[in-house]
Amino acid sequence: MTTTTRMTETGTITIDATVNGRPVHATIAAQTTLLDFVREELGLRGAKRSCDVQVCGACTMLLDGTPVSSCCTLAWEAQGKAITTIEGLSAHGSLDPIQQAFVDTGAVQCGFCTSGMVLTAKSLLADNPSPSRDDITAYMSGNLCRCTGYWRIIDAIQLAGERMRDKDGGS
Ligand code: FES
Ligand code: FES
Repeated sequence: MTTTTRMTETGTITIDATVNGRPVHATIAAQTTLLDFVREELGLRGAKRSCDVQVCGACTMLLDGTPVSSCCTLAWEAQGKAITTIEGLSAHGSLDPIQQAFVDTGAVQCGFCTSGMVLTAKSLLADNPSPSRDDITAYMSGNLCRCTGYWRIIDAIQLAGERMRDKDGGS
């Protein structure tokens, strides 16, 4: 896969990346945000637009495993990278352990924050499989929820971590 991108005289760029494991090649306006690229060009609507100024985390996606606010990331910044959206976590028909834990603990109310929460939690548990409640609070501080009061979200992330460690045979 090429790792560079060039703007044309008409202000478009060509991007090559993977989205949830599938190669994507597209020509888009250079100023297109990653959020608009994924939602409008690719039709994946799991990432939400709320604040549009990198405050709420509702638009979170993973770029090579790192959470980014896709509302404030230009699509060309994903050139050559792996984009993961919430749709990619259940691509094989079953929920990711983090999604399942959110369901099981009642950590989803309106659901507007949930895709961003789950993807940020995915990155957290990849970095730290056994986070404390303080670890979770600190790592998730860029993801806001107006409904749940956060306790059940923290419960869900701890439960997911436990289940993933059990599955991996860890302690
Ligand atoms: S919509 Fe992107 S951070 Fe709020
Ligand atoms: S569940 Fe409604 S904003 Fe979090």
